[in-house]
Amino acid sequence: MSEAHVKIHLFDETSVAHEADLLVIGVHSGGEAQAALARCPDGVAREVKRVLKAGWLRGDAGETLFLPVVPGEGLAVERLLLVGLGKRESVTLESLRALGASVVKACEKSAVDRALVLVSLDEQHGIGPSRVMAAMAEGAWLGSYRFDRYQGVSRKDAPRHRLKRLDFLLPAARLKGGRKRLERIEKITRGVMLARDLCNTPGNLLTPDVLARKGRELAERLPIKTTIFSPQVLAQKGMNGILAVGQGSAHPPCMIILEYRKGGDRPTLAVVGKAVTFDSGGISLKPGAKMEEMKFDMSGGAAVFGFLHAIAEMELPINVVGIVPAAENLPSGTAQRPGDVIKTARGIHVEVINTDAEGRLILADALHHAATFDPDVIIDLATLTGACVIALGSHATGLMGNHKGLRKKLRKAGDRCGERVWPLPMFPEYQEQIKSVVADIKNVGGREAGTITAACFLSRFVDESRAWAHLDIAGTAYDLSSSKPHMPKGAVGVGVRLLCEYALAERV
Ligand code: BES
Ligand code: MN
Ligand code: ZN
Repeated sequence: MSEAHVKIHLFDETSVAHEADLLVIGVHSGGEAQAALARCPDGVAREVKRVLKAGWLRGDAGETLFLPVVPGEGLAVERLLLVGLGKRESVTLESLRALGASVVKACEKSAVDRALVLVSLDEQHGIGPSRVMAAMAEGAWLGSYRFDRYQGVSRKDAPRHRLKRLDFLLPAARLKGGRKRLERIEKITRGVMLARDLCNTPGNLLTPDVLARKGRELAERLPIKTTIFSPQVLAQKGMNGILAVGQGSAHPPCMIILEYRKGGDRPTLAVVGKAVTFDSGGISLKPGAKMEEMKFDMSGGAAVFGFLHAIAEMELPINVVGIVPAAENLPSGTAQRPGDVIKTARGIHVEVINTDAEGRLILADALHHAATFDPDVIIDLATLTGACVIALGSHATGLMGNHKGLRKKLRKAGDRCGERVWPLPMFPEYQEQIKSVVADIKNVGGREAGTITAACFLSRFVDESRAWAHLDIAGTAYDLSSSKPHMPKGAVGVGVRLLCEYALAERV
């Protein structure tokens, strides 16, 4: 796994004279330094005030300014980094995540090895010091991720400098709670890294069987039980949706089941993630432009992997089963064709109008199989429809499902962790669009409301008695032109933090 190399440690507020290359001080819009500046030696505070008065830094979010420290001013550090916090009232957890990542980026550019952050000494717009620290640390880790395993000696640009340590100061009374928070965030971000690594790995190197092997590896290191359904088992169970999507590829499909049970007799949460390791569209071939992005079509499955990794590391007292149907969607002489009719594991016959609507075919069998674990709640994640990218862009995940309470909990979890989700309706009328002339249903419902009709298709494979939510992450799973410092270009690992936030709040 790509490690977030920066190590983060916490110290109590009296450690300003602490050994570090650099001291990070927050400045609000209008050029007002954070209150904790008062704890710095006089000379330093005076110099910062002078610079702010001169207007060298306005304090807007994202701004950074390095200042040298004149020796003999009672500080062990060589430099100060002033960072803009923005307007007092517009500081949010998300702006603090971005800030944490900008600090790391600035330090990397200027060859800093060790930085000490003062921002977490003050409360920021109702966010207490320990939460300020946690959000900045989360952003620092998320932002320091890089996927460079295929960039070797032949690349001319020099390797980027790595910040080795980021230390935070906290009021003494917040240290214990802060350390607990930090530990949890480190485990969650590790889950995000795993999901990103899986997503960023190209289709030739991450085939369904490779993903299955990664699933088995999880079981070696963590309290997770992994079961793989081979094509033979899939056939036995009548899982022809997964088999049909995979039949055009030389890499056979499979289903990966990850079970984590530390919740005693608590109910089970089932998370289902689409893992099409590469989606060419199949016989209904996609246009060439941006087809390479379809290596990210296993982002739902990757989120399930990352989520299980995180909760197993946190040892949460919950029961979770992750179900990941994996297939490669390619055109060939053995591929399925438009017009084919397949019988899914649930017994529902599906007419395949378009082989590019493959995600719902593999999810159909996976959602049906989820019921065998008798879960209270089923949440699926899938890069399911281009229509969702049109509807919501990259700023929110599409949310659908059959249970108002669950939708509400997911929305709240999304708002807290920054992975926002937004609802789309599932009025019964939409179900009409997937009626088939020859089979029970067809796999496309026309151009209108494509995200919703895809969800309607999925709904046929879930019992009404279970709470189910569907997350269409087509627009949020990857971003190749990201401008957020805590979101590197490429896979986002979306869903991992959302599911963790949900699980932590619900103790499902
Ligand atoms: N994996 C795609 C959806 C997708 C598109 C994800 C863009 C991320 C970015 C999915 O399998 C697909 O091809 N959906 C079709 C469905 C259509 C044929 C009904 C689509 O959205 O065009
Ligand atoms: Mn497709
Ligand atoms: Zn797809």
